[in-house]
Amino acid sequence: MIKIAVPATSANLGPGFDTLGIALNLYNNFYFEKADEWNFDGFQPDYRNIDNNLVAQSALAAYKYANATPIPLKMSLEENVPNSRGLGSSATCIVAGIKAANYFMGNVLSDDELLEIATEIEGHPDNVAPAIFGNLVSGIKAKKVMKVTYDVCKALKFIVCIPNFRQNTRESRKVLPKTMSYIDVVHNASRLVNIPYALSSGNIELLNILLDDKMHEPYRLPLINDSMKIKQVAKKNSLPFCLSGSGPTLLIIAKNDGIICELEKLKLIPNWRFISLEASCGATITEV
Ligand code: HSE
Repeated sequence: MIKIAVPATSANLGPGFDTLGIALNLYNNFYFEKADEWNFDGFQPDYRNIDNNLVAQSALAAYKYANATPIPLKMSLEENVPNSRGLGSSATCIVAGIKAANYFMGNVLSDDELLEIATEIEGHPDNVAPAIFGNLVSGIKAKKVMKVTYDVCKALKFIVCIPNFRQNTRESRKVLPKTMSYIDVVHNASRLVNIPYALSSGNIELLNILLDDKMHEPYRLPLINDSMKIKQVAKKNSLPFCLSGSGPTLLIIAKNDGIICELEKLKLIPNWRFISLEASCGATITEV
């Protein structure tokens, strides 16, 4: 049996919409073994069917890409990344499925080919790329999908503020306008280009300016109850703040966890959880 641990990811990082993402040290653990037929007993009832199971669908896509005969898998999941909260839970399923298929095919596909398959399934590379490669990754959709990876300063804490409600990415893409003004594009470009430098050098003051986005956050934050109260606490402490992916999780970057005490004193409805995370490596496979 193999265990594949796939990290949570926080996509966008403000102005890096559909481009930037970071892997964080909270993991969904998937277990796979070869079987005579597909078996999903270790999943919630809704996902015990090959058509509804994103892990199995992703494994099938990898077999197809490699022109291989599909090997049925018995699979189970130990779930730690909350579902539909903007922390890349579906990317963990996609990456686990294609990595498992590749392992049982004898690792015939490179990680760059896995990125190609995963991006095709997810539609954008900003969660799947860091889930595969770890740390900070920018994804580029060209003739093929390309990526650039960056180190992240080890002193940085990524404080995720997770509400107890879900938000569907498809719905939160519908609220975005179809066009952007030149002035807003320049605002975003001038910030985005410097985010890898600021994250790798751990420059909190610079990140506080750079994470300000004009492309998606102004339209999405109002959908999230109490998000402005949390943003105000981050800004009062001069800490970088952004939406994690399409939300509803919010991300604050700091050099210590002190802000969590202040956040816990806020009267928020519904209840929120605050977890301090660090940058992580990409998905790992171990034989168990
Ligand atoms: N870049 C995507 C979005 C991330 O913001 O819609 C969704 O996980």
